[in-house]
Amino acid sequence: MFKIKPLLICCFAMATTSAIANAADVEIDINVEKPGAVLNKNIYGQFMEHLGRGIYEGIWVGEDSTIPNENGFRLDVLNALRDLEVPLVRWPGGCFADEYHWRDGIGPRDERARTVNSNWGGVIEDNAFGTHEFFEFAELLGAETYVNGNLGTGSPREMVEWLHYMTSDADTTIVRERKKNGRDEPFKVDYFAVGNESWGCGGNMTPDYYAELYKQYSAFLKAPEGNQPKFIASGGTDDQTEWTQVLTDKIKPSWSLRMDAVTHHYYTLPTGDWETKGSSTGFPEEQWYSTMVRTLKIEDYIEKNVAILEEVDPENKIGFYVDEWGTWYDVDKGTNPGFLYQQNTLRDAIVAGLNIHVFNRHAERVQMTVIAQMVNVLQAMILTDKEKMVLTPTYYAFKMHIPFQDATYLPVELSDSLIYQYGEDSIPGISASAAKAQDGNTYISIVNTQLEGNVEVTLDQVKQVKGQVLTSDKMDEHNTFDAPNNIQPSDYSAKVKNGKAVISVPAKSLMVLNLGKL
Ligand code: AHR
Repeated sequence: MFKIKPLLICCFAMATTSAIANAADVEIDINVEKPGAVLNKNIYGQFMEHLGRGIYEGIWVGEDSTIPNENGFRLDVLNALRDLEVPLVRWPGGCFADEYHWRDGIGPRDERARTVNSNWGGVIEDNAFGTHEFFEFAELLGAETYVNGNLGTGSPREMVEWLHYMTSDADTTIVRERKKNGRDEPFKVDYFAVGNESWGCGGNMTPDYYAELYKQYSAFLKAPEGNQPKFIASGGTDDQTEWTQVLTDKIKPSWSLRMDAVTHHYYTLPTGDWETKGSSTGFPEEQWYSTMVRTLKIEDYIEKNVAILEEVDPENKIGFYVDEWGTWYDVDKGTNPGFLYQQNTLRDAIVAGLNIHVFNRHAERVQMTVIAQMVNVLQAMILTDKEKMVLTPTYYAFKMHIPFQDATYLPVELSDSLIYQYGEDSIPGISASAAKAQDGNTYISIVNTQLEGNVEVTLDQVKQVKGQVLTSDKMDEHNTFDAPNNIQPSDYSAKVKNGKAVISVPAKSLMVLNLGKL
């Protein structure tokens, strides 16, 4: 075994050559003596927006559908999501949230309002999926709930009444209405956001204007003791910090106003250009690497926003959430541009792994993240085509990380991350994150970002090495409705001798390994 120095490579095309193939050797030390924050299970939150086939067809098919369903929820998807142990679901948007009027979605389905989904394809929204359906779905999954309120086109009264409808047990007209609609017990609202992307589709607001509105609305958002959601303020996107700054400046003088978290959005576009984002499959090697570079930018954005929160809130009362993240490509050919339907490949699984590693490193503040979105939209877990369903590489990446839900962060030190330089940006060849899980075992998640070259990784003081690896020869390997098992994780194990194990991390792979009780 021998080691090489980190390579400085001028461009992605070169980075794909076999310069490091089979040559690298990395030692990873897991510091079990210095456990960090609990990795909130809600880092694995999921987003279900009224967008394209994300809810209608993807989740909700109605009781009369020929697709097997439980109370209208398609069974194949429901069961796949149960296997995924989805901890949290966010609904109804996204941009849709700021045009959603909750009363349109309650009462007998055949009497519900028909509206136009102006954000997403201009299609008719028949409101068959509304408040009761959302909570029933979350209950079927055993997931926590995150409801996004309408600040853009709603009113304080509308928002207040919705919260009351969902959470109260008082004998009011609104609660009687909920009971008449079939639900005696209050719903459990775990999180409630005031608006979404208020800088854009949520109303083109400035941070100052939004902060004033947040103060106004939140003054009236009341829920009974014991059924209080955490209140979330809509923050910025990409490298923005001014939303966090203004919100904390304005809210701080009156901490009695509840702002439990500021939430941020960041999407990975391979090109960085919203006009031509790049394709979900059949992309050039350069876009593999640019996707990795752009994904990892999120760490700097998180750090800058968290630094602002640290200044005003050293006690860590306010969370920094990322309630929309993931890859965003040009829509797949032949699909409705408003439906944001894209294939999902091995590249997406690697992106998921890298994001998870970043979130874990900032878990004290990043107590929730929500990938966009759960089914049929953007970086989805599941794709459907009428009665057919496939699980994506991102689904498998999330499934492999289930032991990390509510695990305790353990710092890792790499003897060499095999850094690759691209202009001013760099990406590690090897990225890793470890945690002590609820079952007492220590798990490590490892990503090899490179298209060529297995990397030998040495782990010390481990008891066992048993887990799974997700990889393929093809960088855009994906599952299709005709070939749903093209890419799946395979079992992996390695021998341990005197506490030491040498594992071979394949090029373009994600591994999650159980190292035993350390
Ligand atoms: O996830 C798709 C859209 O992306 C959401 O509706 C919006 O919040 C963001 O711009």
